[in-house]
Amino acid sequence: MDTNWPIRVSDLHKSFGAIHAVDGISLRVAAGEIFGLVGSDGAGKTTTLRLLVGALWPDAGEIAIAGYDMSRQAEQARAHLGYLSQRFSLYEDLTVLENIRFFAEVRGLSTGEWLPRSMEILDFVGLAEFKDRRAGQLSGGMKQKLGLATALVHRPRILLLDEPTTGVDPVTRQDFWQLIIRLLNPDAEDGVAVVISTPYMDEAARCNRIGFMRAGRFLLEGPPSALCATLEGRILELRGQPLRLLRRIAGQDEDVEDARAFGDRLHLRVREKRMKAVLRRLPRRIRAGGGSLDDLRQVPPTLEDVFIDLSEDVL
Ligand SMILES: Nc1ncnc2c1ncn2[C@@H]1O[C@H](COP(=O)(O)OP(=O)(O)O)[C@@H](O)[C@H]1O
Ligand SMILES: [Mg+2]
Repeated sequence: MDTNWPIRVSDLHKSFGAIHAVDGISLRVAAGEIFGLVGSDGAGKTTTLRLLVGALWPDAGEIAIAGYDMSRQAEQARAHLGYLSQRFSLYEDLTVLENIRFFAEVRGLSTGEWLPRSMEILDFVGLAEFKDRRAGQLSGGMKQKLGLATALVHRPRILLLDEPTTGVDPVTRQDFWQLIIRLLNPDAEDGVAVVISTPYMDEAARCNRIGFMRAGRFLLEGPPSALCATLEGRILELRGQPLRLLRRIAGQDEDVEDARAFGDRLHLRVREKRMKAVLRRLPRRIRAGGGSLDDLRQVPPTLEDVFIDLSEDVL
């Protein structure tokens, strides 16, 4: 087993008719590392993950999971994989424990093994006291946690999660991430290698590395801090009234490439090396235009800024 790179993927391609759902994806993920597939609907995240679990056959490219070649040793590869699909389903009429038992048996755990392991994993996800509740009676967040538990029952070294937090409330999202982070650093063992897909930038920021996906490709790939650094010194935050007027005035500035609302403020992306010029003249223009300025300052770029920048390049 290749312990350095539990996940190795090179130049993966998959088309559905004329649609290139995955169009040349390469990635490596180390143990204890979390890689984010970040992109909006249709970017190719689910197809990539389905190729990684061997649920789909690639048109071209190579996949090695725990050192096993997916095209020749799929069964050995899958034994190391835990997968939570985007629309996974539990057996709603079965209890929490019965659901785990089902997935444990599918994974070949013996009776002696599955019960202690199930209790351990339910404890881990915080569902131990609900073990006798029917899955259909769980809240959305609890269902997601049970889904995670079923994916972990056989102690996989590699975990693939397809938008596990889409549509769940912010508190549950937070809980869910705490669980994933704990998986990365289990005591005295190598951590799990995780690939997670998400449309959310705040989640992308929590990954060790991300790939911004669009049309089956990575537009940009790397650690969030490195991606943000590409826009260093080019983001201004502006607060004042009325926001729409400020946005129009800022947007008309020859050195402002983009002006966008971020809650109650604006983020401006400034042309390279033009920051000083913009900081000097924008307050004057806003006053002349009848707006009031509360604050204008340079801020560190966020992933959202990077993503917006990218989206425009491609349009
Ligand atoms: N089984 C399929 N048959 C035909 N087209 C598909 C199939 N699965 C995905 N696609 C298409 O491939 C593209 C990528 O889809 P998907 O991987 O589901 O993206 P994401 O998960 O990022 O939303 C989309 O254009 C989608 O419509
Ligand atoms: Mg998807």
